[in-house]
Amino acid sequence: MVDDFLTRLPKAELHLHIEGTLEPELMFALAERNAITLPYADIDAARAAYDFRDLQSFLDLYFLGMSVLVGAEDFHDLAMDYFRRAAAEGVVHVEMHIDPQAHLARGVPLAEVMDGLVRACDTAREELDLSSAMILAFLRDKPAEDAMALLEQAKPFLHHFSAVGLDSAEQGNPPSKFRDVFARARELGLARVAHAGEEGPPSYIREALDELDVCRIDHGVRVVEDMELMERLADEGMVLTVCPLSNVRLKVVERLEDHALPRLLDAGLMITLNSDDPAYFGGGMRDNFAACQTAFGWSDDTLRWLAGNAIEAAFMDDTRRTELLTRLASA
Ligand code: ADE
Ligand code: ZN
Repeated sequence: MVDDFLTRLPKAELHLHIEGTLEPELMFALAERNAITLPYADIDAARAAYDFRDLQSFLDLYFLGMSVLVGAEDFHDLAMDYFRRAAAEGVVHVEMHIDPQAHLARGVPLAEVMDGLVRACDTAREELDLSSAMILAFLRDKPAEDAMALLEQAKPFLHHFSAVGLDSAEQGNPPSKFRDVFARARELGLARVAHAGEEGPPSYIREALDELDVCRIDHGVRVVEDMELMERLADEGMVLTVCPLSNVRLKVVERLEDHALPRLLDAGLMITLNSDDPAYFGGGMRDNFAACQTAFGWSDDTLRWLAGNAIEAAFMDDTRRTELLTRLASA
């Protein structure tokens, strides 16, 4: 393990899609295990195809890639593969979005998904000192009724989930579409997070706050277009899970140097750094921290503050939070 400041910094990752951690090497291994033919000649060809115009062009390959995940063992291997890489770069806590609708649509039962992932989370805690939480994500480009049906279907597994989330194609699928589903999730005792303001307008961020009662906004970077909303987020201490390398790869911004991050920090927002879909966007947590350090010239204190925000905002018990904050102070 490289012993440098960015690796030593105990990093909690609050915005990660577990299906987006599927590296081409494992994708090909699982394709062989499950006798699935991929539309890529080889691993290099898969990586070469990861040249995205926008969110949708990424989602097309993201859903294609996850078609190799069939049984519990596949989900277990997916998560363990990621946890090992993450732990080696100093990630101490991972909150994973899971997209069950994408698996159910392929005939993969939720029990298979959960069996594999829960086992991997248990092993990561014991062997890697890596804690985790799960977020039940709804695909926002599908009908709200489907999301409600998933929430009902997930009842036997809800004790594994800390929150519900909202992901997939944002434009034209406003948070308000899921008002009833999120209200039900709240009744069931689940916290709420939602992707908003990645490609969608600032009004989607406002809707997520007012209609879904979220405790975090995933991405949220388009808030810079609305000064009043920016002030509100700062006043409310709302957490934004920003994904710098993702924003560059999905052309939310042209270059990292153009990113709104410095303005968001100046405005006093509770920013965290995250990797989103590291297998597709060219880097994990350490890479995201390093890219920002280079692009914005951030000091160690700023990077430590960002890492601290994530630990403060994470779904974890107070014993673990105190332990990680103590580790952070001496990093
Ligand atoms: N699903 C996986 N990654 C996503 C992203 N960056 N935005 C929306 N949905 C996603
Ligand atoms: Zn995301």
